[in-house]
Amino acid sequence: MVTRPYVIDEMISAKSIAARIEELCREIQKEFADTDKLVVVGLLRGSFVFIADLVRELDLPIEVDFLEASSYGDGMESTQEVRILKDLRGGIEGRDVLIVEDIIDTGITLNYLTNYLAGKNPRSVKIVTLLSKPARRVVEIPVEWMGFEIPDKFVVGYGLDFGEQYRNLPYVGVLKPSMYTAILGKE
Ligand code: IMP
Ligand code: MG
Repeated sequence: MVTRPYVIDEMISAKSIAARIEELCREIQKEFADTDKLVVVGLLRGSFVFIADLVRELDLPIEVDFLEASSYGDGMESTQEVRILKDLRGGIEGRDVLIVEDIIDTGITLNYLTNYLAGKNPRSVKIVTLLSKPARRVVEIPVEWMGFEIPDKFVVGYGLDFGEQYRNLPYVGVLKPSMYTAILGKE
């Protein structure tokens, strides 16, 4: 198992994440009990670990699709500009859609993507995010399900990256400041 304790301080353990996902799935299942097929849309790349654990806890007829948007470069600040890098494979017209996100920070990415998906005339669009940093919000987003609210700290692991590294950590942690100053080359 990957831990890297010398660069990361654990914030949310793998065990707590698993327990929270079970709770979220119980609620999501209730909400979609009468759906004939739910389209679960993972936002790449950060949500790939979360969506994998989530769908295996969901006892519902589902399809999985992915959408990739970019608003971040390799650093820690949003560029404010959202571009679709990879579109959905399947159609969502008349379907119930569940967007799966790793973290909502400013809200700019999800605001853009929910409008984009709404334009494809789905029956409904709902959002589940593992993490939320409310202190950083620029655009308000109606989120139906949220795993954990976290303070304004840059986190990695469980799918989340810093410069494409650390996605494979099984827990969510905070990069020690000495690490990112070393990587970015500034104090
Ligand atoms: P937003 O548009 O500012 O809400 O940005 C959301 C996206 O930025 C997330 O889907 C992540 O990919 C990335 N992001 C925001 N905060 C963090 C963080 O603390 N660690 C890693 N990625 C983050
Ligand atoms: Mg993301």
